[in-house]
Amino acid sequence: MLDEKRIPVSQLVAPEGDKVLSEIYNDEQVFQTEMEAIFESTWIWVAHESEIPKKGDYKTARVGRHSVIVSRDRKMDIHVLVNRCRHRGATLCEEHKGNARSFVCPYHGWGYGQDGSLRAVPNPGPYEGVINKEDLPLISLRMESYKGMIFATFNDDVEPLEDFLGGAKKWIDLFMKQGGGYPIKTLGEHRFRFPGNWKIQLENTTDAYHFPIIHKSFISSLDGDTAEIFDFLEGDGFVEDLGNGHSVMVMIPELVDLEENLEAPIPERFKALAKELADEGHSDEHIRKLVRAAGGSGFNLNLFPNVACSMAFFRVLAPISVNETEIQHIAIGGDGAPSAFNKVRMRLHEHFQGPMGFGTPDDSEAWERVQKGSQSGKDQWILVNRGQEMVQKNELGNSYSTVCSEVGMKAAYQQWAKMMRESEKGE
Ligand code: FES
Ligand code: FE
Repeated sequence: MLDEKRIPVSQLVAPEGDKVLSEIYNDEQVFQTEMEAIFESTWIWVAHESEIPKKGDYKTARVGRHSVIVSRDRKMDIHVLVNRCRHRGATLCEEHKGNARSFVCPYHGWGYGQDGSLRAVPNPGPYEGVINKEDLPLISLRMESYKGMIFATFNDDVEPLEDFLGGAKKWIDLFMKQGGGYPIKTLGEHRFRFPGNWKIQLENTTDAYHFPIIHKSFISSLDGDTAEIFDFLEGDGFVEDLGNGHSVMVMIPELVDLEENLEAPIPERFKALAKELADEGHSDEHIRKLVRAAGGSGFNLNLFPNVACSMAFFRVLAPISVNETEIQHIAIGGDGAPSAFNKVRMRLHEHFQGPMGFGTPDDSEAWERVQKGSQSGKDQWILVNRGQEMVQKNELGNSYSTVCSEVGMKAAYQQWAKMMRESEKGE
């Protein structure tokens, strides 16, 4: 894809990787290159297994520019299929979620199985000697999952998913402890779009610096003890580069491992939950486990390029165009856990992330303003260098710095630049 308008990566990212040119948010050619060099080349999160628990369950998702169907077949195997009929290209499925024995194209009625095989072609006579059904299944992506997180890729040569996740796996394991002893399941979701580039959201997941500023209204809605928990900028938290563009921001170190410190006093905000569980006859040990998990993990894990495990929910981003991004907030709880526990988690989710929450509307306005503001001025940089003089290496050799540093963003841009450079070489 040689195009003379393409800006070299060496100009878009400073040599130290500590600043990026605003064109990365608003240049059409950069966006088109990203779709190929990143979204069609590496592992993209498409679903959590609990979203499609039964035979025939499916959901639609996006892998870069492509619509896909994530489907569970009769043998309980999962398939990720391109949502495009092999006849003349119509989408097969416009629903976000559902259950179906087959996918039938609305145009001429070609019918596909849950595994994507072409099963039925109406009025097949004129196709005799022309096509074979076996040659025209739905296009299937390579799929792998880790701890219920399903990823897919168009790139058959990419490393195994677990290698790609690498240092992030330990944090996924910790994150999944918030089911309070039950497996994680999704409780519901909402979606919205903001008029801005996808990387503006990607940066946000490990940005503690903005929290006390833009989330003032959230903080003022909390009780004193909870507000103290969220006052983490001066605490012992940190941001760590986990490799391959992934990073973790630990805001509340005491809440990294939710299966530890079960003896700690029950916080005021969960006393009503503890009482409700006690009234239902749960043991003290069980109650303590649930209460400790109820508020989620004390960290945000950013998995490059499109999913965050953020305290108590999944945040998924889908680039729509250079200046439009779709965000999905997926609430999670415990599969089979007492309903009081899942109810409390939903209320907490709504309080910050929900469409009427105190957090997300403020975040999305800031993202929109970055897109808008960064178009003014010529050759201007976006700075991701906060805390860089305080960077240290841990025992794994990973860089880390203070919780309100921009180490996570820098890690993502390093991977971004690496993948974009690889595509330059291929030209
Ligand atoms: Fe699907 Fe014709 S486009 S059957
Ligand atoms: Fe925020």
